[in-house]
Amino acid sequence: KGKIKTSWVCCKCGYSDGQWWGICKACDSVGTMTHFSEGSVNVGRNRRGFEVSENVVRAWLPQHSAEAVPLRLRDVNRGINQLDWRIPLYGLFGAEVARVLGGGLVPGCLVLVGGDPGVGKSTLLLQIAALIAEGHNVGEQAPVVYVSGEESVEQIGNRADRTRIVTEELYLYSSTDIEDILKKAQPLSPRALIVDSIQTVYLRGVTGSAGGLSQVKECTSALLRFAKKTNIPVFLIGHVTKSGDIAGPRVLEHIVDVVLYMEGEKSSSHRLLRSVKNRFGSTDELGVFAMSQSGLQAVSNPSEMFLSEQHSDSEFLAGIAVAVIMDGSRTFVIEIQALCVAGSSSSRQVNGVQASRADMIISVLMKQAGLKLQENGIYLNVVSGVSLIETAGDLAIAAAICSSFLEFPIPSGVAFIGEIGLGGELRGVPRMEKRVNTVAKLGYKKCIVPKSAEKSMLALGLEEIMILGCKNLKEVIHTVF
Ligand code: TYD
Ligand code: MG
Repeated sequence: KGKIKTSWVCCKCGYSDGQWWGICKACDSVGTMTHFSEGSVNVGRNRRGFEVSENVVRAWLPQHSAEAVPLRLRDVNRGINQLDWRIPLYGLFGAEVARVLGGGLVPGCLVLVGGDPGVGKSTLLLQIAALIAEGHNVGEQAPVVYVSGEESVEQIGNRADRTRIVTEELYLYSSTDIEDILKKAQPLSPRALIVDSIQTVYLRGVTGSAGGLSQVKECTSALLRFAKKTNIPVFLIGHVTKSGDIAGPRVLEHIVDVVLYMEGEKSSSHRLLRSVKNRFGSTDELGVFAMSQSGLQAVSNPSEMFLSEQHSDSEFLAGIAVAVIMDGSRTFVIEIQALCVAGSSSSRQVNGVQASRADMIISVLMKQAGLKLQENGIYLNVVSGVSLIETAGDLAIAAAICSSFLEFPIPSGVAFIGEIGLGGELRGVPRMEKRVNTVAKLGYKKCIVPKSAEKSMLALGLEEIMILGCKNLKEVIHTVF
């Protein structure tokens, strides 16, 4: 008999509990706990009179549970080394995707690609599908199946034309029935399967409509079993939803092997692909793409993309300073803008910087560097809507404020790296070398660093850039302004 286990799952974070709570214990969201029946199937008889009490997908996916026994460690067939296992991805675009995936595609993995509707998930996955099918590094083409529950094959075809995909081995299919999808895909022995999107597919026999919590969870589990049994990597697209009734990708994060999120502003063509979970690699990785008229393109030198246009102009504005931040293993140069308005109320508005951090830096500037900011309204902004979470940006924030307050523009070609302590002292930050190397490569002429790091930075032997070590904020002001 089909046993139904009932639980309550938070739609927002995926936390599950045996009983209902008004407030989610994991993420503190109110009223998001939703009733969920695990393996809820319509217990009864099907058309042929057989009793249906088990999950439907199990019926067609071969089950070897009776034959499987615990194995001694040395008897476990590990195949080849995990790393050699990865399917390499070729070209600039491929390299960008591969890095986010932690080096390449691991056979049998289930990858969830989440993002806001319209951000470019379908486009990205169609391009990835073509890339895998072409298999430049493997030397030969192999089938890849792209299944959409949202678009017809003609619509996907149009998109492929637009992105100039001509791959022979790319198979398109339009369906929303998981069983049907897997049944049609398996005989092709594809190198990868793409399912767009989890919110549109359903599993026969599972209660609830497509996009509902039960369906979303059961479909994902079915795809996971499929991936593990066949060793075919599966990409799953999920829309991030705001309302609670349609289960968002967050609920699935713990089921899948890899979770990638695609981010981007409507106003900008830049798209970021961020890995937030990876069973096979690092999770700090970030891929940078640009949405063009013909699909997504890898941005080869993303370091400069967070600089405003003005910065490249010859006339300098006061209140702008450049910080060097790390995201994953990459270095980015970002611009911080400050505006000090004398005489106005001492209101503060910060954008992209933690308010408490900004307050601290402003107080230190007043107390330890003697800046009379008391009567000033201070506005802070990080260009491009990036949020600065690293303390490595402290010095650039302070420099931007000084620059605006003193109405002294900082010449272009100067970068700031360092954390500020309550005594106004500058402290070193992790990965100094990498940061300094990046700004040198980008053609910056001066880099202000904490005194403690000066020696080792000079030891790098970078000739094009001048390294200036400062003990505290007072020294920075004397050196720069
Ligand atoms: P899409 O991949 O459909 O987004 P999602 O699947 O995440 O909902 O991308 C939609 C947007 O991308 C749409 O606004 C059009 C734009 N786009 C381009 O700018 N260039 C292109 O080559 C393609 C295919 C789409
Ligand atoms: Mg889409």
